[in-house]
Amino acid sequence: MFLVTGATGGIGRTVVRLLREQEKQVRAFVRLTSRYSELEQRGANIFIGDLRQEKDIQKACQGVQYIISAHGSGGDALALDYRANIELIDSAKANQVQHFVFISVLGADRGYEDAPVFKAKRAVERYLESSGLNYTILRPSGLASDLLPLAERFRETGFYLLVGDPKNRTSTVSTDDLARIIVDSVTVEAARNQILSVGGPEILMREDIPKIISRIFNREPLIINPPLLAVDGLRGALGFFNPQAQKALGTFRTLLANEFFCTREEIAKLETTFNFELETLESFLRRRLAV
Ligand SMILES: NC(=O)c1ccc[n+]([C@@H]2O[C@H](COP(=O)([O-])OP(=O)(O)OC[C@H]3O[C@@H](n4cnc5c(N)ncnc54)[C@H](OP(=O)(O)O)[C@@H]3O)[C@@H](O)[C@H]2O)c1
Repeated sequence: MFLVTGATGGIGRTVVRLLREQEKQVRAFVRLTSRYSELEQRGANIFIGDLRQEKDIQKACQGVQYIISAHGSGGDALALDYRANIELIDSAKANQVQHFVFISVLGADRGYEDAPVFKAKRAVERYLESSGLNYTILRPSGLASDLLPLAERFRETGFYLLVGDPKNRTSTVSTDDLARIIVDSVTVEAARNQILSVGGPEILMREDIPKIISRIFNREPLIINPPLLAVDGLRGALGFFNPQAQKALGTFRTLLANEFFCTREEIAKLETTFNFELETLESFLRRRLAV
């Protein structure tokens, strides 16, 4: 039995679909407010709880062999990116779980002071490494599926919003490839007790993305490119009313202000470890947008 947290998220939902296609037993950790009917229809076992509650985590881990931690935090890095994962790891040990897959983030080890999610991820990575469990830590770059709404908006309006430096590099990964890597991590020997960066096969500049989308829809893009200063202004103003949201924007700003791409060596290692060729962003978008 696999336990998947964040089962209704971009990554978790894709993982649950893949596991069910392979007819594996899945316990999907969801909230009562989550949109989980599709997962239920696919035959996942629905566990309703809240990752802020230790008791829910302990109960969800009973009788599982594999744990895939793929939840997000919506701004509360301490409770969800940090504490919930520590509790999942402790419960995994108590239940003699065979393998723990943790979805971290590319750059978790760069010491970004202003990004609570990155700090929490690094602390959890360290805790998992010294837990005695079999583990795989995956550090993805940006997800291709997160670009689908932007592409749909482009299809309707011709506009594309690109905040920050258009020359910053990224290696956006196909969400389907990432799900396959996550699922295979529990059986592929070379992935055991490894920290792996996960990106797509190409290093793109962020300005390449609207060009790809424009090629797909055969339409010239109207790119709106506000500077990072706009995010700084928003953060400053928010700080007066909501310090928590201001801190969460620190992670967002870090994502926009820095480069997140995998080296050619990291991609080659990934393809060798999991024995398949990674999909390009253009191929993913054409497949998912059916164009
Ligand atoms: N997206 C990226 O580009 C990217 C890149 C690198 C790493 N990552 C990491 O990958 C992980 C998943 O990302 P994602 O983009 O797939 O996430 P997402 O789409 O934002 O989904 C977040 C998931 O976490 C669940 N969740 C949030 N709070 C919860 C709580 N209190 N109790 C139970 N479930 C809760 C949400 O449930 P609801 O449906 O109820 O809201 C949802 O299923 C995150 O840890 C993220 O840091 C993401």
